[in-house]
Amino acid sequence: MTDQPPSSTATPELFTWEFATNPYPAYAWLREHAPVHRTRLPSGVEAWLVTRYADAKQVLADPRLSKNPAHHGGPADARGRTGIPGERQADLMTHLLNIDPPDHTRLRRLVSKAFTPRRIAEFAPRVQELTDGLIDGFARSGSADLIHDFAFPLPIYAICDLLGVPREDQDDFRDWAGMMIRHGKAGQGGSPRGGVARSVKKMRAYLADLIHRKRAALPDTPEPLPGEDLISGLIRASDQGEHLTENEAAAMAFILLFAGFETTVNLIGNGTYALLTHPGQRARLESSLAAGERGLLDTGVEELLRYDGPVELATWRFATRALSVGGQEIAAGDPVLVVLAAADRDPERFADPEVLDLGRRDNQHLGYGHGIHYCLGAPLARLEGRTALATLLTRLPDLRLAVEPADLRWRGGLIMRGLRTLPVEFTPVP
Ligand code: HEM
Repeated sequence: MTDQPPSSTATPELFTWEFATNPYPAYAWLREHAPVHRTRLPSGVEAWLVTRYADAKQVLADPRLSKNPAHHGGPADARGRTGIPGERQADLMTHLLNIDPPDHTRLRRLVSKAFTPRRIAEFAPRVQELTDGLIDGFARSGSADLIHDFAFPLPIYAICDLLGVPREDQDDFRDWAGMMIRHGKAGQGGSPRGGVARSVKKMRAYLADLIHRKRAALPDTPEPLPGEDLISGLIRASDQGEHLTENEAAAMAFILLFAGFETTVNLIGNGTYALLTHPGQRARLESSLAAGERGLLDTGVEELLRYDGPVELATWRFATRALSVGGQEIAAGDPVLVVLAAADRDPERFADPEVLDLGRRDNQHLGYGHGIHYCLGAPLARLEGRTALATLLTRLPDLRLAVEPADLRWRGGLIMRGLRTLPVEFTPVP
């Protein structure tokens, strides 16, 4: 699989099956020849793709670009079909990724209070326990689909635990989330039809009821109790005059689930795949783990995010007025999509960007975004990614792909980049 750009001067075809498998040559071409490129997406919507690092960083932090889909110049009733968040399920859609200041500032401050680094640090033993439990489930068999058996369940159980979804209800969440990941992204406004619509509806009803029950059970103390869950933290903040409506609390729980779920599945999936296909880098990481060092694991997970990260395109942005990006005029109402995967391989920013170097130091990648919408869950994602990869490599030392890389299938969605399955083999471990 070569990552070199096509030599022809014709614009490469985007959104084909080959593109989903390896979009990097096409992105390299765009970066060089059409860094701010207007394209028709498979949904029919026209949008600008921004592929250079410097432009990407500017756009992600530019207040003239709104996250509110009401600023889209196209017809509102078409939004559901185009992938732009629409009117349907509107109550769950008014979350951090679809709003601007001052509402964004208010809600982000509130959830940041509940989503503290301390809470994440306290959560480390539980992430390790979940990781070990999932590996125990297939370690004796000598084979597994690492997406289905490992990368998929780990983040869903982790975020359910953090939110305070009781363990006995977590398999329902696993089913609902599975339906949404397979058939559409309700969280990003994908057209929620049939099973997806039913799953979103069930999840919404469940979250509303859970918030209700937690509010009734919340002890009347001003300070959070040790180990208090995130939904209780949100309710406490809203009861202390932070103006969080019950709808906003449900939308917040929903976005935490969705922003924190498929992204982490793909960090583990893409990351493991990259390690299995770069034996030198994998051996380097294994010897560092065996020596009890953590440094290479930490820089390595960042490099895996840069090299083949879970979020290929940042979420929708809309020009609120005419503006210029990288010398290209963009009209008011136009959608703008920042291609994080292209920016993170920009040779103007990264030395040897096509090379996976787990020890890379100068690595200010955009895998978690930039600006006011910078990933809120980055500390949790890092914790899960580091724990998952280190434990896999340590417990299953001869882990290997069970198929040729060319036989793997990548999901074709717009925003996320990830594998459908990751079949592996290893010597069974008793
Ligand atoms: C490796 C895993 C992850 C990656 C690569 C990732 C990436 C991103 C990116 C690129 C954005 C910004 C999108 C934009 O500006 O359009 C974002 C925002 C966000 N992420 Fe993550 N994310 C990950 C995991 C998580 C987790 C585990 C959570 C929480 C449980 C989370 C919660 C959020 C939230 C709430 C936002 C919206 C923040 C805002 O709008 O203020 N993410 N993430």
